[in-house]
This record gives sequence, structure tokens and C-alpha cells, in this order.
Amino acid sequence: MTVYIPKLPDEAPFSPSQRAWLNGYFAGMMGGDTGEAAPVAAPVVEEDFPWHDPAFDLDERLALAKDRALPRRLMAAMAQLDCGQCGYLCQTYGEAIASGAEKSLGKCVPGGKETSKALRALMSEAPSAAAPAIKAEAAHPPGRLIAEAVFKGATPLNGAGSAKDTRHVVFDLSGTGLDYRPGDAFGLYAPIDPELVASVVAALGADPAQAVERDGRHLPLTEMLGTVLDIARPGDSVVETMIKHATAVDREGLAKILDGAADAPLADPDLLDLLRRFPAVRPPLDELLASLEALQPRLYSIASSPRAHQGEVHLTIGVVRYKRNDRARQGVASTFLAERHPPGATLRCFVQPAHGFRLPEDLSKPVIMIGPGTGIAPFRAFLEERCATQAPGKNWLFFGDQHEAYDFIYRDEIEAFQADGTLTRLDLAFSRDGARKVYVQDRMREAGAELWAWLKEGAHIYVCGDASRMARDVDTALREIVAVQGGMDEAAAKAFVQKLAADKRYQRDVY
Ligand SMILES: Cc1cc2nc3c(=O)[nH]c(=O)nc-3n(C[C@H](O)[C@H](O)[C@H](O)COP(=O)(O)OP(=O)(O)OC[C@H]3O[C@@H](n4cnc5c(N)ncnc54)[C@H](O)[C@@H]3O)c2cc1C
Ligand SMILES: NC(=O)c1ccc[n+]([C@@H]2O[C@H](COP(=O)([O-])OP(=O)(O)OC[C@H]3O[C@@H](n4cnc5c(N)ncnc54)[C@H](OP(=O)(O)O)[C@@H]3O)[C@@H](O)[C@H]2O)c1
Repeated sequence: MTVYIPKLPDEAPFSPSQRAWLNGYFAGMMGGDTGEAAPVAAPVVEEDFPWHDPAFDLDERLALAKDRALPRRLMAAMAQLDCGQCGYLCQTYGEAIASGAEKSLGKCVPGGKETSKALRALMSEAPSAAAPAIKAEAAHPPGRLIAEAVFKGATPLNGAGSAKDTRHVVFDLSGTGLDYRPGDAFGLYAPIDPELVASVVAALGADPAQAVERDGRHLPLTEMLGTVLDIARPGDSVVETMIKHATAVDREGLAKILDGAADAPLADPDLLDLLRRFPAVRPPLDELLASLEALQPRLYSIASSPRAHQGEVHLTIGVVRYKRNDRARQGVASTFLAERHPPGATLRCFVQPAHGFRLPEDLSKPVIMIGPGTGIAPFRAFLEERCATQAPGKNWLFFGDQHEAYDFIYRDEIEAFQADGTLTRLDLAFSRDGARKVYVQDRMREAGAELWAWLKEGAHIYVCGDASRMARDVDTALREIVAVQGGMDEAAAKAFVQKLAADKRYQRDVY
């Protein structure tokens, strides 16, 4: 089924907060019972959000917002990606929580537990903190067209011997009404591994076929746990519910998990870990289900230009597999696509338009792209677009991963772009090939003079990939290059880079 709610065009003359408010208002007028954000705040005058940078740590962001009103402090607790995964922007999610329109504190997927914990702390300090009741519906923001796209496959990109498993994923969009531009992200609703669901049902001692209810929806237990609720990432409210039904000894262990104590019996437990570690703690099923958050969609930077792959969208997905609490854990969406979804089957998907991650409109402007690992994704799309539009501007790519032999993904395509002149310059950083680690920011420093020359020519600079380490270090390197090459002190270099960002010449798509 396709759901469509009208929204203001991006070019309408409103600030993001005004646009969010008006879109919510229109959706309300349309009587759209879609779970989208209700109007949450009157349009406000433009204000600055100094914490709105994903490269800051949570503590830094909260400190920068500490003297602001509650909605802004809540905003500062978000991951600052404006990725739209939660159904809001960071600002409007904060406003919705503060106003009481949004009860769930666990929707910021990139912020994870750290964010939901900070939100809880902020709400508990708020004067009229209401007990959060969780709604098991992923929000569909205004304008989000959700369609069933046909999955065409997830081809391995790494060579044999690699520690990585990165996939080139293709969906057929023909007939879906979905379209996109390079820089956008693609969202998808992946179900949880049925084996994990079955193990949870067994640990609960429940009947897998029994009908259960959540927010008026009636489904068999396995379907509820596999497609609606997030058993892979249970929020604090699950642990709190278990505490209510625990004996003193179990209560102590559960409380340590809640506090994230170093001596907690489990680290980052999923629901199965909790049920297995505390076999005597079995809250009534309806209470347990009511405490679980909604399973959120996952977002992926689009790796194709529609001009090069008409009717298709391509993604570059790192498959998440790791060990935790003596169990093999698997990322919900990445392993679903890599292992469980047969080509030809459909999946509910949507396009998440970019918030400021766009190629320059002036095709003659130079472009510098920094994207190690899966961060290459949007730059494959950018290069395809620059080639298809015959953009005369120069293009420079910084890429890297662990080993050149196995992890130089899209090598043939990148070399073809070099050969046909689309890619003017390529700098590679394979971190584990030499005696010491080499990262993209090392290559940037080595090429500092040329990078500065490109910036002086009006280059736009883009960063994609890991937010917590890479994007922060690349930002530092950029400031150092500006200081050294531009003969500026630290403050002036910082202001220069801030101005680049304000002029939309320094854009990041990090996660
Ligand atoms: C705007 C945006 C763009 C994105 N683009 C891309 C992209 O192009 N390609 C891409 O691959 N991803 C991208 N992501 C990330 C993607 O959305 C998912 O978060 C990612 O694929 C994991 O989802 P999953 O469902 O497979 O794993 P989940 O079930 O969500 O599990 C992931 C969680 O597992 C934990 N975890 C993961 N690895 C480990 C480990 N080694 N040790 C301990 N814990 C671990 C972490 O808590 C992590 O948050 C993007 C995210 C955003 C917000
Ligand atoms: N624990 C987790 O949750 C976990 C685990 C893996 C990936 N991820 C996330 O998945 C996303 C993408 O992963 P990916 O596999 O595409 O790539 P990635 O893990 O970011 O690795 C890509 C390349 O970046 C290098 N790198 C590591 N730290 C860096 C830094 N500070 N600055 C610059 N480069 C750095 C890596 O080197 P080295 O690996 O040799 O250091 C590797 O060569 C990221 O968001 C990442 O955080 C999460």
C-alpha cells in the first residue's frame, strides 16, 4: 500500500522549523491518521544551534545547550544528523517530546541508548514530566511516500580474506513512484531475524501463534515481535518493567544494566539476553510488549544517480555482525538484506531527501569528496551524476579502508572514472597495509596545498561515513590545513570552516 501526505516544497520560503510545523499542520488538516508528527510548535524566529554538529560528543552538545529551553536541550541530545529516521528532524523531535505530542524517547537510532538516556534525564528534570507511554508506530513524516520496491540482490563487494562484508544492494523502483537525487538517503523497513524471534518466544514460554495487541493492532505474537517491536534494541523501559517483577537479587542486576554500570551482568543486552540472564523475571506479556519501542526503519546513503541507473536505487551496505554477551549478534537490516531476503521479493521503502547534502548547482565548481568505507556510497552517486551531466568542474575523491587487496570496493568503476577524466584526483588510504595506520585525513594533510587551492577556486567539500571518529578527525584536519595554508590562527581557521558550512560548501552525511 502507498501512503501519501502533501507537504511544502523544499524551495518554499520557510525556515526548517516553520516548514516542519506547517507540514504537520497540513497533515493534521488532511485528517492523516498516519502517525506523523502533529504540529508541535508555532513557527519560530531563526536561532542558532551551536550543538547541531554530529562530530560533537553528547556531553559537549548538552553543555552547548545547557542554558536553552527544554526543547533545545532535548534537541541537543539527538545525534544531530537530521537523518529523518525517527520521522522528525533533530529540532522537531525535541519539540515534539517537550510538548508531549511524542511519548517515545527511543526513536533516535543513530543516537542509540546514549541519546534515549539523556532524553530521559532531561525529561525527568522537566517541571511536569509525564510518564512516557510508548507508541508502537514508526512515525511517517509528512510527505513520506512509502512503497514496496523489488529487491534485486546484495552482491559482496569485498574480496576473499577481508574482515569486512560490504554489499552492493539494488532495488527496482519502477512503478513505485519513488524518485531521488544524489545525496538523498533510502529508508527501508526490515524485519527481525525469525530465529531471534523464535528464541525470544521460547524464552518467554509463550505460544508463537497467540494473538497479541499493541496500540489497537492485533497480530500473532511472532509477527508482532518480528515486524513491529524492537526486540533487538530494547530500551530502558523494558528493563524497568522487568525490575518491577523481579526479586531483590535480580533487581540489583537489572538496576546495574539500567545504569550502564561497569559491573553490570550484561552489556548492551537485547531482549533475548535479558530473558535468558533473568529466567525468573517474566512480566505479564502485555506489559512487556507495551514497554518495547517500535522497530525503526534503517537509512542508507544512496549510491547511484538515477541518470545512470534509471528505475533503480543502489546502496552500499556494511553487514553488521559482532559478538556480545557470548552470543553472535546481527544487525537487523544489513543481515536481512545480505542473508534472508530473496531477490525478487519486495520491501517497504522510502526516500529520505537530503538536508543539505547536494552537489553544487553550478556544474563548474570543483568537488572534494571524503568517504572511507561505506562512506563511498554517495560519492559513487555524485561521480555518476557529474559524468552524466558532463559537469566541467573537477572532482577529487579520498577513499580508504583496511586493505587495498580486499577492500578497494568499486575499484573498477573508480578507475574507469579516472580514465574517462570524471575523477580528476584520487587519494587512497588503506589503513592496515603498512607498518602504521594511514587514514584519509593523513592524505588530506599531505595534499594540503592543493586542497587549499581547490577551496580557493570555490570547491565544495563533502564527508560521508563514520560520524564518531572519522568525521571528527577529518574536520580537525581540514581546520589545520586551512590554518597552515591560509596563514590563519586557530580561531580564524575555525571561523573559515564554519563559513564554508554556512555557505553549504562543507557538507556531511555521517552516521
Ligand atoms: C543518514 C544515514 C545514512 C546511512 N548510510 C549508510 C550506508 O550508506 N551504508 C551503511 O552500511 N550504513 C549506513 N547507515 C547506517 C545504517 O542506517 C544502519 O545503522 C546500519 O546498517 C546498521 O543497521 P542494522 O539494522 O544492520 O544493525 P542494527 O540492528 O541497527 O545494529 C547496529 C547496532 O549494533 C551495534 N554494533 C554494531 N557493530 C558492533 C560491534 N562491532 N560491536 C558492538 N556493537 C556493535 C551498535 O550499537 C549499532 O548501533 C546510515 C545511517 C544514517 C543515519
Ligand atoms: N562498533 C560499531 O558499532 C561499529 C563497527 C564497525 C563499523 N561501524 C560503523 O559503521 C559505519 C561504517 O563502517 P565502515 O565499515 O564503512 O567503515 P569504517 O569502520 O569507518 O572503516 C573505514 C576506514 O576508516 C578507517 N578509520 C578508522 N578510524 C578512523 C578515523 N578516526 N579517521 C579516519 N579513518 C578511520 C578504518 O581504519 P581501521 O579500521 O584500520 O582503523 C578503515 O580503513 C561507521 O558508522 C562505523 O562507525 C560501527
